[in-house]
Amino acid sequence: MFQEISSLSAAYIHIEEQFGAHNYHPLPVVLERGAGVYLYDVDGKQYYDFLSGYSAVNQGHCHPVIIKALTDQAQKLTLTSRAFHNNLLGTYEQYITNYFGYEKVLPMNTGVEGGETAIKLARKWAYMHKGVPENKAKIIFAEGNFWGRTLAAISSSTDPSSYRGFGPYMPGFELVPYNDLIALEKQLQDANVAAFMVEPIQGEAGVVVPDDGYLSAVRRLCTKYNVLFIADEIQTGLCRTGKLLACDYEDARPDILILGKALSGGTMPIAAVLADDEVMLCIKPGEHGSTYGGNPLACAVAMAALQVLKDEEMAENATKMGELLRSELTKLNSPLISTIRGKGLLNAIVINHENPEAAWDLCLILRDNGLLAKPTHGDKIRFAPPLTITSDQILECVGIIQKSLQILQG
Ligand SMILES: Cc1ncc(COP(=O)(O)O)c(C=O)c1O
Repeated sequence: MFQEISSLSAAYIHIEEQFGAHNYHPLPVVLERGAGVYLYDVDGKQYYDFLSGYSAVNQGHCHPVIIKALTDQAQKLTLTSRAFHNNLLGTYEQYITNYFGYEKVLPMNTGVEGGETAIKLARKWAYMHKGVPENKAKIIFAEGNFWGRTLAAISSSTDPSSYRGFGPYMPGFELVPYNDLIALEKQLQDANVAAFMVEPIQGEAGVVVPDDGYLSAVRRLCTKYNVLFIADEIQTGLCRTGKLLACDYEDARPDILILGKALSGGTMPIAAVLADDEVMLCIKPGEHGSTYGGNPLACAVAMAALQVLKDEEMAENATKMGELLRSELTKLNSPLISTIRGKGLLNAIVINHENPEAAWDLCLILRDNGLLAKPTHGDKIRFAPPLTITSDQILECVGIIQKSLQILQG
């Protein structure tokens, strides 16, 4: 049912297995080039990218404007550390705070560091402003959340493959079911709760979209109980769901906004935490930071990556192409697809098959037919191409998916 990989690809995979930790289970394909919505393997075969680096490549692979900003700045100055000022940090901070409408930004690198930063800010704010007794602050998370792999992140996880075997865990974290306002309100009544941290759509959990009105109700409840609303928009933000932020659908402005991934258009790890002064100024010199956070190379790249999203109207395209993708997938009427869900170009299908490996098998067939996607949580496959994709390309991709489903069905 699957094509053999070439001996060249096999050799690359072999050295990874021999010398690298076995902490991932990649699809067997070895990529060496990317351009726009396409990826190319070491044998020159072209694929549609339906993962976009887990939504880090919203702007398309090697977007020329972003690559120019990267290469121009790389020849001037890349890192000063925050021991000194640099000539781009303030400009970037002004740019990104204006762009998202917050008073301050705290620049970090990876998304998970953004999450850690948000939690530190919330704890400090709870002690300084809410009157929570020292070391008693609680952070509430939604079941099914994913925000990375640090000890704090896995301490809030409900996925055993994330947390099992890595205890003891971070205290002060509690869980509520996702999309359950009654359970949330009950938790928020505890006077020691500092924040509720939530993804507007749960990406890793399989693109779980909450009910309409959930985010605005979260906003209202957090205000009512003087709890900070932290939105993890690392995967949903930056036009992926058809708006600049997924929270924009409900006018639900978070107190702390976490961004990452596409903030660099897939070129380097850049994360940002945005908040107003009451929250951000709780952290004083020496209390938080990172060697690379706010480096001039990242500042130049992030400004280009954000500008490209606006200049090329990627939110609008994500909305249109997402609608087209879901409606064309629905038209396939495949018995192998039990659910099609998503917003903008953050979508997933759930595979209906007695074989628990069927989603993986389908991804191998899709690969053979020129489309790269990856299962998440067994039976779900995310369909999240770069936001530059055109309607002709969407139609071609749905053709590939249809053909692949037929092969899987046998
Ligand atoms: C919603 C969300 N938050 C946080 C992260 C962690 O980001 P990173 O892998 O850059 O640390 C991810 C990564 O997939 C994510 O999807």
